[in-house]
Amino acid sequence: MDQNALKEQTGKESVKYIKSGMIVGLGTGSTVKYMVDELGKQVQEGKIKDIIGVTTSNRTAKQARDLGITIKDIDDVNHIDLTIDGADEISDDFQGIKGGGGALLWEKIVANASNKVMWIVDESKLVHKLGAFPLPVEVIPFGSQHVFDRLEKKGYKPTWRMDGDKKFRTDENNYIIDLHLGEIDDPKALADELIHMVGIVETGLFLNRVNDVIVGTPEGPKVLHA
Ligand code: A5P
Repeated sequence: MDQNALKEQTGKESVKYIKSGMIVGLGTGSTVKYMVDELGKQVQEGKIKDIIGVTTSNRTAKQARDLGITIKDIDDVNHIDLTIDGADEISDDFQGIKGGGGALLWEKIVANASNKVMWIVDESKLVHKLGAFPLPVEVIPFGSQHVFDRLEKKGYKPTWRMDGDKKFRTDENNYIIDLHLGEIDDPKALADELIHMVGIVETGLFLNRVNDVIVGTPEGPKVLHA
C-alpha cells in the first residue's frame, strides 16, 4: 500500500469517532483532507448530524464549507469536543512535530481548546526520536532576519520556508523558518528556548498534546493511546 492509501485509511477511520452534536476541530494537511472528505460525505448523507467544525487553516475551512459542514470561528465556541489532525513525526513517547503544512500556530491554539486530540498518520510518521523532520518555527516578519541569524549561530541550520520564489506566508501572514536538527535530545528544553526568543510566535513541537493516534498500516488502522 502506498503512503496516500494509508493516509486515506486513517483519515476515513477517524470519522468513526465523530458523533452527532459534537464540536470538532479540523486539522490541516493531506491526511486530514481525506478525513474532511469522509465527514462531509456522512454529513450530506445525514449519518452525522448537527456538528460544528472549528478549523486550523483557511484551506481546511474552505474544503469543509464546500462540503456543507458548518464552520464556526474558534472564539464563537466555548470548547471543542475532539480535534483530529495530522502530524509530521510522533516519537515513542507521543511527542510530535507538526507544521509541515504551515498551520502550526492555529493547530496549537485549536488543540489547546480541545477536550481530546487525535492524530492521524501513516506508519512512516512514527519515529524513535524527533528531529529528522525539519522543525518549523513561525516568526513575525519584522526583524525575522535577525531571528534567522540567531538560530544559525546556535547551529540549528535554519532555512526559510518558500512558496515559489517568495517566502511562505502563514494564515497569520507570518514566515516559517525550518530547523534541520537531525535529532532532538530534549524537546522540552528546545521548545522552551525557542518560544522565549523574541519574534518567534510558535514552534512545531507539540508536547503532551495528543490523546490518541490512529496509524494507517498495510494490516489496517491501529489505535495507540498516549
Ligand atoms: C500542517 O501544518 C501540519 O501540521 C500537518 O498536520 C502535518 O504536516 C501532516 O501533514 P500530512 O497529513 O499532509 O502528512
